Amino acid sequence: MNYSVAPNTLKNRVILVTGAGDGIGRQAAISFAQHGATVVLLGRTVKKLEQTYDEIVALEAPEPTIISLDLQEATQQDYRELMQTIEHQLGRLDGVLHNAGLLGTLCPLEQIELATYDAVMQVNVRAQLMMTQALLPLLRQSDDARIVFTSSTVGHQGRALWGTYSISKFATEGMMQILADELRETNIRVNAINPGGTRTGMRAEAFPSEDPDTLKTPQDIMPLYLYLMAPEGRAVHGECIAAQSKD
Ligand SMILES: NC(=O)c1ccc[n+]([C@@H]2O[C@H](COP(=O)([O-])OP(=O)(O)OC[C@H]3O[C@@H](n4cnc5c(N)ncnc54)[C@H](OP(=O)(O)O)[C@@H]3O)[C@@H](O)[C@H]2O)c1
Repeated sequence: MNYSVAPNTLKNRVILVTGAGDGIGRQAAISFAQHGATVVLLGRTVKKLEQTYDEIVALEAPEPTIISLDLQEATQQDYRELMQTIEHQLGRLDGVLHNAGLLGTLCPLEQIELATYDAVMQVNVRAQLMMTQALLPLLRQSDDARIVFTSSTVGHQGRALWGTYSISKFATEGMMQILADELRETNIRVNAINPGGTRTGMRAEAFPSEDPDTLKTPQDIMPLYLYLMAPEGRAVHGECIAAQSKD
């Protein structure tokens, strides 16, 4: 499938990217900005967000906004304030990329520690639910809004030792399908991306002995991210799409 988009396809659009300081989220924020979007860089490590900010400004793309938020700790009130900040500072919201995620510990299901389980489910699932609930009123005001979740191959096929991470990604795909069904007749398109094995810190944590040079880079998988955020991808709804043919 060819996911090409026009150079300035995201002009005048405001897109929130979670986990925008590192890995795939960092690259997605840069790529959206390069295609004209004003990007809201959300994450927990301000220094990393500032680096993404500097890279975007150096490209002479629209100036981004930084929002520091730890998804592990954030409350419904924090998400309400997030919505208000975006509304006051930028006046609109056209897209959300739910990208931030935690791997947790790879181990047999029998040995999953509940503290790790709770942390992963908080960041990968509960935070996305709360953020989506808070941002929907703003997304409804857009003429063409997008919500893109991030899944994984283990989000639709369980795999030994992938424990909580896999369970959290099954939940993510379920959330995407439910929301897509509920919003079918609206201005909001809802989908998920399975990035496939990609050269990031999380991948190295999961596969420490793997040669990173054998992997696609975050930049390699951007065509699908851009397509699902852009007018070109308007017809896609309720799908989980692989950014690579294999992981
Ligand atoms: N890389 C792959 O091969 C692969 C494959 C399938 C799916 N995925 C999915 O793709 C997404 C991005 O993964 P990645 O590989 O780019 O991982 P990464 O390099 O580890 O980046 C994860 C991002 O999430 C942020 N994050 C983690 N916990 C957070 C919290 N409590 N609050 C706010 N932000 C938080 C991190 O912030 P800090 O930098 O501040 O920690 C970081 O920016 C994830 O959803 C992952 O599950 C990745």
